[in-house]
Amino acid sequence: MYSRIAGTGRYLPERVLTNHDIEKMVDTTDEWIRERTGIERRHIAAPGQTTADLAEQAASRAMEAAGVTAGDVDLIIVGTTTPDVVFPNVGCLLQDRLGIRGCPAFSVEAACSGFIYALTVADRFVTSGKSNCALVIGAETLSRITDWSDRTTCVLFGDGAGAVVLQPADEPGIVSCHLGADGGYKDLLYFPYGPSRKPEAMHGEGAFIQMKGNEVFKVAVKTLESIVDEALDANELECSAVDWLVPHQANLRIIQATAKRLDMPMAKVILTLQDHGNTSAASVPMALDVGIRDGRIKRGDLVLLEAFGGGFTWGASLIRY
Ligand code: COA
Repeated sequence: MYSRIAGTGRYLPERVLTNHDIEKMVDTTDEWIRERTGIERRHIAAPGQTTADLAEQAASRAMEAAGVTAGDVDLIIVGTTTPDVVFPNVGCLLQDRLGIRGCPAFSVEAACSGFIYALTVADRFVTSGKSNCALVIGAETLSRITDWSDRTTCVLFGDGAGAVVLQPADEPGIVSCHLGADGGYKDLLYFPYGPSRKPEAMHGEGAFIQMKGNEVFKVAVKTLESIVDEALDANELECSAVDWLVPHQANLRIIQATAKRLDMPMAKVILTLQDHGNTSAASVPMALDVGIRDGRIKRGDLVLLEAFGGGFTWGASLIRY
C-alpha cells in the first residue's frame, strides 16, 4: 500500500510587511534584501492570531480540495516550532476546532524541516494501514520569535500555514522520504530559551531567533545537495526525471544552488519566498499548494520536496502527484 496527496491548502495572514516597511524599522534596503535573499514581502499574524488559527485555515482548504470532511480524518500531525502553547500540542488544538474526537494528534518539532518530518511519519501510518485520511500541516508564527530590531534576521522570516491530506493508494504517491539531522550544529540557528531552560527568560532580552547566517548558508547548500542526491539515488532516477522542485523557501541563492545541482532550470522550481519569506515548516506545503492550484504541478508529475532547518534537520521527499 502507498499514500498519496489527495488535496492541499495554504493560508497567509492578511497583514503584509514589505521590504520598504522594514527599511523604516532597521538599517537595510529593499535592494539588499532582494539581492541577498530574494524576499520582497512577508505576512504577519494579527495580534492574537495563533499558529493553530493559521493551521485551521490551511487544513480546511486542504480537506475541501481532497473532498473529505472532518469526520474522515483519523490522524493529525503538525510540523511547527512556534506552537500556541507548550501543550496541548497544535494537533490537539486543531482537532478540537475541527470537531474530531479520538484520533492521534501531535506536533513534530524539526524547525524548517518540520513538514517533511511530519509527512514522513504520516506516510508510515497510511502505508501500514493505520490511517485512511491523515491531515499533515506545517504552520508557524515566526514573527513572534523574531527580533524586529535585528536586521540580520528580521528581514528573513514570516508567518503562514500549509496543509495536505494523505490517503491510501495502490500506486505511489509518496515514492520515498529521506530525513537527517545533526545536533552538532545546534549553535548556528536556535531559539535560546524554553520551558526547561531559563523559562523566566522566554519573553525577556535575547528571546529571539539567533542565527549565524553565513555559516547556516554554507551547510544548507551542502546538505541539500546531498539529500536530493540521496532521494534520486534511492530510486535510481536521473535528475531529468524530476518535473518540479518544491524547496524550502529560505533564500533564493540556496534554492538556485540546489536547482543547479539537479541541473534543473529555475522555471521548474516552485518559488514563493518573494511573497512570504521564510515561514519555516509552512514553506514547503504552501509552495506545493501554489504549484498545484496554479496548474503547474499536474497529476502524475514527479515532484521533489526538500527542506533544511535549525537543529540542523533536513529532509527530502519524492512524490508522484
Ligand atoms: N541589510 C543590510 N545589510 C545587512 C543586512 C540587512 N538586512 N543584514 C546583514 N547585513 C550586512 C552585514 O552586517 C554584513 O556587513 P559587513 O560586511 O559590513 O560586516 C554584510 O551585510 C554581509 O553579511 P553576510 O551575513 O555575510 O551576508 P550574506 O550574503 O551571508 O547574507 C543572509 C545574509 C542571512 C541573507 C544569508 O547568510 C542567509 O540567507 N543565510 C541562510 C539563512 C537561512 O536560510 N536560515 C534559515 C535556514 S532554514
